[in-house]
Amino acid sequence: MRRMKKTVLGMGLALAMLVVPFQQVLAEETTGEIRQVDNVAHRGASGYAPENTIAAFDKAVEMKADYIEIDVQRSKDGQLVVIHDTTVDRTTNGTGSVKDLTFEQIRSLDAGSWMGEEFAGEEIPTFAEVLERYHGKIGILIELKAPQLYPGIEETVAMMLKERNLDKPQNEKIIIQSFNFESMEKINSLLPYVPIGVLTSSSADTTDQALKEFASYAEYFNPSYRIVTEELVDKVHSLDMGISSWTVRSQETADFLLDMNVDAIITDYPDYVDPRN
Ligand code: G3P
Ligand code: CA
Repeated sequence: MRRMKKTVLGMGLALAMLVVPFQQVLAEETTGEIRQVDNVAHRGASGYAPENTIAAFDKAVEMKADYIEIDVQRSKDGQLVVIHDTTVDRTTNGTGSVKDLTFEQIRSLDAGSWMGEEFAGEEIPTFAEVLERYHGKIGILIELKAPQLYPGIEETVAMMLKERNLDKPQNEKIIIQSFNFESMEKINSLLPYVPIGVLTSSSADTTDQALKEFASYAEYFNPSYRIVTEELVDKVHSLDMGISSWTVRSQETADFLLDMNVDAIITDYPDYVDPRN
């Protein structure tokens, strides 16, 4: 994965052409790339530990995944927290919408017991904690979950990455994605060097016109595996975007996506993608 922003790539190529013969640049552009599928632990290694907790992210590191995928939302009092659903009901011992609970209320919840007593006491992590604990150790695929519920969340995310120098061209494998395309266009202008992905499960978003529009601000087109075809992968690649697909919960789906030649596989079970894990 880790596609560079097109602007940076353009600058790099122009610079290279000044110092090495054109033939050589072309050769490097067209030959010799060893394809590698990135293994992205969905909400952490969530097949083995409660999703979006430190236990699941640590497990992903232990399993040598390339990235963790995290879902970011905001508490009532403005803290960015890592949780998938817009309510805490399914994955904690509490109830209510993330946006209506204070950070103190969210932090007091048990986000592990629902999966097993051995995970009792796992907390909902903050976005800051995840950045600090994992950057440089494993890539972080940041999903802005339902950003329309959190006006201004893009500015906060941008500020937090900038404060940690994680917004630079050679960043430490940070990618931002969302189902909300408007939000991703905004992120693209706030963080011009951070690669962006658009998420969809709709074939309506796979038309030539739609893909061309995405390619104007995103480096990745990230569809549900249910709409992946060889033709789609080729089209996405021809627009110079990468393709990361989700969500693997069986060996069969992992094998299908490996056959489809996608660039990254987003999985609850990192070992289905790479049996060495
Ligand atoms: O990273 C892709 C995937 O996370 C999108 O779906 O619902 O699991 O956030 P969801
Ligand atoms: Ca997600």
